[in-house]
Formats: sequence, structure tokens, C-alpha cells
Amino acid sequence: MGESINVIIIDKEENSRNIIKNYLSSFGDVNICGEFFDYDLGCDFALKSGKVLIFIDVSQEPDKALDVIKRLKENSKQSYIVAMSNKTSTETIIKVMRAGAKEFVTKPFIESEFKTLVETITAEFRNIETPDTCKIISTFSNKGGIGKTSIAVNLAVELAQMSKEKVALIDLNLQLGDVATFLDMTPPFAMDYIADNISHLDEEELLKTLTRYKNTSLYVIADPLNIDKSKEITAEQIKNILNALKKIFSYIVIDIGTNIDSKTITALDSSDLILLIAIVNLPAIRSTQRCMDLFNKLGYPPEKIKLILNRYMENEDIKTSDIEEVVKQKVYWKIPNNYLTMMSAINKGVPVSEINSESNIAVNYKDFASKVSDYLITQKLNKDYNNRELRI
Ligand SMILES: Nc1ncnc2c1ncn2[C@@H]1O[C@H](COP(=O)(O)OP(=O)(O)O)[C@@H](O)[C@H]1O
Ligand SMILES: [Mg+2]
Repeated sequence: MGESINVIIIDKEENSRNIIKNYLSSFGDVNICGEFFDYDLGCDFALKSGKVLIFIDVSQEPDKALDVIKRLKENSKQSYIVAMSNKTSTETIIKVMRAGAKEFVTKPFIESEFKTLVETITAEFRNIETPDTCKIISTFSNKGGIGKTSIAVNLAVELAQMSKEKVALIDLNLQLGDVATFLDMTPPFAMDYIADNISHLDEEELLKTLTRYKNTSLYVIADPLNIDKSKEITAEQIKNILNALKKIFSYIVIDIGTNIDSKTITALDSSDLILLIAIVNLPAIRSTQRCMDLFNKLGYPPEKIKLILNRYMENEDIKTSDIEEVVKQKVYWKIPNNYLTMMSAINKGVPVSEINSESNIAVNYKDFASKVSDYLITQKLNKDYNNRELRI
């Protein structure tokens, strides 16, 4: 028997709750940790409960119940929702499943059917390891003015647009970051507030402290308004913030900046992919080479680092193959030079796709986001596969 499975029941009818409790009591590994007649209370409790199996009645207050299911689905990647109802119309079932329930049980329960279902669900529930599907991408270069912020911002916007999943964009230029300006935002909370409060914010509260970009699934953490506050932020707080965000977001994009200190190294260590940004000129290439040396010293595997050429123009004096030889790394992607579109985007505080979605740079960013996302998903699958092999 594995570790016990935590269950929450949300049902207005006491009798129905008792029947569920009674049936579940025959499963030694199931632990009922909460029982609620009120949907909101049940939902709040579930959001604080980590990995949890939720039985929720959707026949008493259908609209409220659907809202709660949606809220749970959006805010907790770790909940497994079983909807229960005495209405079995296809329309009801579809609505409930679309909202985010994984199973549907008809009331009144038939004991044997209910127990068989619980057996299947618990087996499935165990197999969903605490999901670690979040992918962390950083943009880095030890030189300013290379395009780190432009790339972090536009990539994050495209990832959110493409996947419709939650993407967090973090400005780790803790002194004078540009991310909020690039998206014309004035976040009410910034990194200093989140760092100070991370230990007691639950998932829903944490999400509220991030600033949503327009009506998209992109959420931003900006640098502190007050530079003095930046100095108080610790590497441990950054680690805690990333760990908490991983439970909510599918992607985290970090604009690391140029500084190398314990905070940025923590972020680089946590990254699945570091986009090392260079432009085609000799000083920038030399700096890039030094960054590669640093990454080697930090023991990063080669597949974690991808070399990106920004502001690329055909017929450059220095050939791509020369750069690859000096940096000892293949060029993964080239972003074209398009000063007018880029400047116009920055001045208006919007992504390049909003200036002209057909411009070479907007199309390039779209393709770049798909390539990065495909790469990371394949990497994760390979890792899972290898881990499985090791366990055999
Ligand atoms: N692909 C591009 N084409 C033309 N100009 C670019 C491109 N990417 C960035 N820039 C310009 O380079 C400058 C620096 O970009 P930024 O993203 O702030 O760099 P960093 O974050 O590395 O300091 C900005 O003025 C921006 O307009
Ligand atoms: Mg920058």
C-alpha cells in the first residue's frame, strides 16, 4: 500500500456525504481530510491542500459547482476532481468535464459501481506523480543591450498565446528591470513583496500578487520599485518563489539580466533551458564564450544551453560557423534585425506581434516559441523515460 490519498467531499446533503464516507472507509489508503456543505469553503480548503482527490456534487447548485471546478482546475494542477450528480444528461456531463472534472458519478450511488470507480481513480491518481510539468526558461548574457528583455518578453507572450496555459514572466534585473515597461504595466506588487510573503501565500493568493497581462494567460513579476528593497531579496527567497510558481504555471520565463550573483545563479540552476543571447560582433562573441566557460564551471549539461543570435542580418562579416567554433556551441536560433518594429513595440509597451503580426520578427518569435516548447516537452519526456528505465 502506498502513501494515503487525501480526499475532500463537497456536497450539500449530509446523507450523501455519509454514504461516500462509508464506502471510502473500506479503502485503507484513503484519508478524508475535509467535508463541506459550502462550495466556497470546500474550494478554499482544497486549494490549500496540495495533491488531493475531490468529490463534488454538481446537482444542488450547478453554476456554483461549475465555478468551483473551474477555479480548482485553474489554480491547482494537483487536484483530481470527481463530479457527482443525479442529473445524467449528456449536456450536464459535457459541461462538468469541460470545466475540469476527470470523472462523473451518477447518484444515487450503487455501492459496487462506486467502489470499482474509486479503485480505478485511486490507481490513476497515484500515477499522476506530483506534476513537475513546469518548464523554466531563462534569457542570459553578461552584456547589456543584447536583447535579453526583448526576447524574454516576446517569447513569454507567444508561449501564453500558443499554449493558452499559464506562463509567468519574472524580471530578475532586480535593480532597474525593464519587463514591466516593455509591457506597459504598473504592477501593484513586485518581487520584494512576493519574496517577503512567499512562505505564507497559498497558490490562489500567490497568483493574485502577480499581474496578469491584459486578458491573456501571462502573469508578470516585476522588479521592486525601490532599489534598496532589491538588495534585501535573498537567493533562498528566489528558490522558494520558483518552487511555488512551478505548481501553478506551465512555463516560467526569467529575464536574468547581466549580473552573476547567488540569486541569478539560483535561477540559472533551476532553469530547464538557458537562452544564451549573442549578437554578431566580436566583443559580444567573446563575452558569450566567457558565459559558456562559466556554465561549464557550474556543471550545466550541454542540452540545457542554447545559443541565440539576436539582431541577425544575412551577409554578416562574421560567419555563423566562425561563431560556433569560438563559442563551441551550435547556433540554435537566429532572430532577425528589425529595429523599427522592435523600437515601436518597446515605445508603445506591447509585444512585436501587436505592432505587426506579419513582420519578420513577429513570425520569427512565433516559430521560436513553438520550437522551444517542443524541445522542452521532448526533453521532459526523455527524462521521464530514462528515470523509468532506471527504476526497472
Ligand atoms: N531583433 C531585434 N532587432 C532590432 N533591434 C532589437 C532587436 N532585439 C532587441 N533590439 C533592440 O536592442 C535594444 C536592447 O534590447 P533589450 O531587450 O533591452 O536588451 P537587454 O535586455 O539585453 O539589455 C533595444 O533598444 C531593442 O529595441
Ligand atoms: Mg534588459
